[in-house]
Amino acid sequence: MKKQPIGIFDSGIGGTSIFKEVHTLLPNENIIYLADSKNAPYGNKSEEEILKLSIKNTELLINKGCKLIIVACNTATTNAINFLRENYNIPFIGIEPAIKPASLNSKSKSIGILATKGTLSSSLFHKTSGIYTKEINVIERIGEGLVPLIEAGKIDSDEIRDLLKTFIKPMLKADIDHLVLGCTHYPYLIPELRKLLPIYIKIIDSGLAVAKQTKAVLEDNNLQSDINSSPNIQFYTNGNIKILNAILDYGFSTKHLDF
Ligand code: DGL
Repeated sequence: MKKQPIGIFDSGIGGTSIFKEVHTLLPNENIIYLADSKNAPYGNKSEEEILKLSIKNTELLINKGCKLIIVACNTATTNAINFLRENYNIPFIGIEPAIKPASLNSKSKSIGILATKGTLSSSLFHKTSGIYTKEINVIERIGEGLVPLIEAGKIDSDEIRDLLKTFIKPMLKADIDHLVLGCTHYPYLIPELRKLLPIYIKIIDSGLAVAKQTKAVLEDNNLQSDINSSPNIQFYTNGNIKILNAILDYGFSTKHLDF
């Protein structure tokens, strides 16, 4: 079981931001990544549709022998992870907007959250937000349009810049000192966001936290890889392979697969 791969899935290429953290922290782990780009964005779909897609991705990864699955998508985590944990007999790691550290560390008592509609409207998000933001002013914005542009390879584009300016305007007005990135596609926008935000505003993404949690869960379940050779890392996309390769920038094995 220890040699079996870790499975990672996302609605597309965004979860590669999580993959990079996981691979850096756990360089001996075999990994299979599924980019469900054909069905992106998940963010505007119903809870039922998101659950159906999450089940499809999970079963494919389990059939490929995965010992643990990282749901590298806030939208899929907030809408489906409880079901997945209850129905499949392997550990699942999810990702949710990091509201807790942002709220606890905020001095201006005002934070911004950029996430998908599916995440911001989920009951799991409301529950977490309700616990940690009682005395915090939270400016939520749906990053409408960002995921399709990133999936189309347009990270460095005027369209993205214009959207980001619109989304952060009310946040700046509300004097936020933390911006939580609640979608795994958004870390690729940090260079652009940094140009638009004053230096004192901290941008929080949860990639490293997910990698640390994965390590802890592997250790708790005695599932850490014991291989000494280079790991086998495979990426599958049902979308555009060139765009996946461009974002990976490492030369891993990438294949097209209909799923
Ligand atoms: N990466 C997904 C997330 O973290 C993007 C959602 C989407 O496809 O809309 O939420």
